[in-house]
Amino acid sequence: MRERMSRKEINIGMIGYQFMGKMHSHAYRDLSFYFEDTLKPVLKAIAGRNETAVIQAAEQMGWESYETDWRRLVERDDIDVIDIVTPNHTHAEIAIAAAEHGKHILSEKPLALTVEDAERMKEAVEKNGVLHMICHNYRFAPAVQYARKLIEEGKLGQIYHMRANYLQDFIMDPSFPLIWRLNKEVSGSGALGDIGAHSIDLARFLVGEISEVSGMMETFIKERPLPGAGQGLTAKTENSEYGKVTVDDAVAFLARFENGAMGTFEATRFAGGNRNKNKFEINGSKGSVRWDMENMNNLDVYFEDSPAGLQGFRSINCTEEVHPYAEAYWPPGHIIGYEHTFINLMHAFMKGIEAKESPSPNFVDGVRNQKVLAAVETSASERKWVSISR
Ligand SMILES: NC(=O)c1ccc[n+]([C@@H]2O[C@H](COP(=O)([O-])OP(=O)(O)OC[C@H]3O[C@@H](n4cnc5c(N)ncnc54)[C@H](O)[C@@H]3O)[C@@H](O)[C@H]2O)c1
Repeated sequence: MRERMSRKEINIGMIGYQFMGKMHSHAYRDLSFYFEDTLKPVLKAIAGRNETAVIQAAEQMGWESYETDWRRLVERDDIDVIDIVTPNHTHAEIAIAAAEHGKHILSEKPLALTVEDAERMKEAVEKNGVLHMICHNYRFAPAVQYARKLIEEGKLGQIYHMRANYLQDFIMDPSFPLIWRLNKEVSGSGALGDIGAHSIDLARFLVGEISEVSGMMETFIKERPLPGAGQGLTAKTENSEYGKVTVDDAVAFLARFENGAMGTFEATRFAGGNRNKNKFEINGSKGSVRWDMENMNNLDVYFEDSPAGLQGFRSINCTEEVHPYAEAYWPPGHIIGYEHTFINLMHAFMKGIEAKESPSPNFVDGVRNQKVLAAVETSASERKWVSISR
């Protein structure tokens, strides 16, 4: 029997194991199945505070070992990468400790609670020479990558508009509990940082840097029952004690881009009927594109130079040979899903580690994103336009 070619491996240590923990675990497991051209992630160890739960998570998701304190994970010599999938208030402390122990880092978004913390994280990775990425996965949908290619090739001409909405409805019920996402000390902000941050990332990826913003924010339900055991997006509670919601339920803001384009953004958890409607439309002098996460394989395109009578948006299924990532997956028309955006992102991270270069989006992008989030909050509270420094 012939020996199989051995692939170079890289050891992952992950902190947190619920929604994103499951998603990232799946992506590491599948990455080398679809992509043969880079490092093979090994699910070395997972960390969580509750021993029974972390053992169960390790078994279910295929991790070799576990720790009950993330600090021990960060100190382990057999770990190359620390993956942070815990709530936002923990990102800075974990990332800085991981950098100081020479680990490469993948952090979930938003990078931190404040611009100051995000900058400390960026300084730590730069000072310690480790590679870093932030998990804005929607960039890695093939249709979004293809939109970027069209823009880069000048197919849309000069960009005039970016119109982005990220619409959810999971907390509309006033009896939905006060989960960590509704507590400013843990999450930093509400719809703004949780989902608006993704739209800001898409805008920066597709159109360019935002130079100033003018925003409004609203919290429709001011108090909610304290959470029970459940903390996820479908949490339930029987609790009759209430606590204060300290973040926005919804945000809308106008933006100017450095290149002169105009942006209109909306992020809300109160758009009934919209479960995860992350969408954008970009209009340029020669054409337009529009994308909707709930139909993520498709990109609608419109070109000014189409013949008279045939003008209008048409929908491209981005699964043909010419489309990004098509080679890694299935034949044309055999579509991929949400989880593949994470596999694609981690593929970029593995390639970056091999090339010793942090792929975008990384902590530099995370800081820039955090500055936009902070500017929107300042603008909403002070009722004025706020500019964003480089
Ligand atoms: N990229 C995306 O599309 C996306 C989607 C959802 C969430 N997120 C981000 O992922 C992160 C996690 O969100 P989630 O939805 O998975 O949350 P979650 O509540 O489902 O899971 C959080 C996990 O962190 C653990 N945890 C909490 N505090 C901890 C601590 N101090 N030490 C160790 N473990 C701790 C919890 O036990 C749990 O396992 C957040 O930063 C969130 O913004 C990103």
